[in-house]
Amino acid sequence: MSERIAVYPGSFDPVTFGHLDILDRAMPIFDRVVVGVLANPAKEPLFTVEERITLMRACVAEKANVEVTSFDGLTVDFAKATGAIAIVRGLRVLSDFESEFQMALMNRRLNPSVNTVFLMTSFSNVFVSSSIIKEVCRLGGNVDEAAPAVSVTAMRRKFGLEGAGQ
Ligand code: PNS
Repeated sequence: MSERIAVYPGSFDPVTFGHLDILDRAMPIFDRVVVGVLANPAKEPLFTVEERITLMRACVAEKANVEVTSFDGLTVDFAKATGAIAIVRGLRVLSDFESEFQMALMNRRLNPSVNTVFLMTSFSNVFVSSSIIKEVCRLGGNVDEAAPAVSVTAMRRKFGLEGAGQ
């Protein structure tokens, strides 16, 4: 039987516990999950694509069937080049649904053979987003419960907060 591969695309700027939660849910469903870090997201990223990949790789080092790479262009093209049958996306709150539904339908129009699989985050991650943790971290707030230590350390360094107690 051929391998069932999924891609998990995103900005991952930086990786949060919400992203890792979705990955953990996708892992038992697919033989291999390829995390696709979008090289040039529309939103100006805090971290370079290399930095975002390094952070994600540090977080998935123990996850046997997960790979991390970057991509540019359309997600459906990335999925096709990877041999994926599915695009994994996480859902947190109802407000995520509208844009995610729109994106899934557009992706289906672009390539009907790749399905989007939505996975629900856990309650503890409902309010976790990269944008929120960046803002809170930048302003000196504690985000240890929302993002892995590598992300927190990298953000604090970017914001010039090293050594500053939380
Ligand atoms: O983590 P994000 O920023 O919510 O991820 C958004 C992402 C990367 C999944 C989306 O912007 C995307 O797929 N970009 C690639 C370009 C593309 O395929 N656009 C059409 C989608 S309808």
